[in-house]
Amino acid sequence: MIKIAIFASGSGSNAENIAQYFSDKQEVEIPVIISNKAEAFVHQRAKQLGIESVTFSKKQFEETDEVANLLTERKIDFVVLAGFLLKVPANLLNNYPNRIVNIHPALLPKFGGKGMYGDRVHEAVVAAGEKESGITIHYINENYDEGDVIFQATCNVATSDTAHDVAEKVHALEYKYFPAIIEKAIAALPGTVSLDKIND
Ligand code: GRF
Repeated sequence: MIKIAIFASGSGSNAENIAQYFSDKQEVEIPVIISNKAEAFVHQRAKQLGIESVTFSKKQFEETDEVANLLTERKIDFVVLAGFLLKVPANLLNNYPNRIVNIHPALLPKFGGKGMYGDRVHEAVVAAGEKESGITIHYINENYDEGDVIFQATCNVATSDTAHDVAEKVHALEYKYFPAIIEKAIAALPGTVSLDKIND
């Protein structure tokens, strides 16, 4: 059994999609969703899904071990950042080496880094006249939007596309690919029996 914690700061549509994907998979459990925003819509989604959701302030994240302690108490093996806007502090990186993945709504290394989140990313893609955008799923490190890339998928950007149009295409890619890539990443964890093997 692998236990995943999802971190989300906003709407949480990816968190919900991931939770639904794993809901009928016995090998994976999502005991908790963690946010830095008490008013984020992800809490409503968590309630609907029957998943505990907890808010920690930026200060609690950055200056205490409270989040690390909660993850330890809940026996969390793996962390998924799904629209989480704070930088992950060193104590969590140390506790979860190569066990924290993020999704970025563009093709890194383009359109990443501090301040590049949400609609700002898609606006920058359109302003730059890009012909394509997409998603990047990557392990995280101490810098924003860096760390080894696990997977990318692309979509076209038409000259008539608005940032909103690009966001919709990118969201579709996120919903299609993120849960399955998480499943692959946890199947590759040391000491984990591959889910492919279980299905054989
Ligand atoms: C997604 O586009 C994700 O790639 C980015 O933030 C957005 C979160 O959307 N990191 P939601 O909260 O999952 O609806």
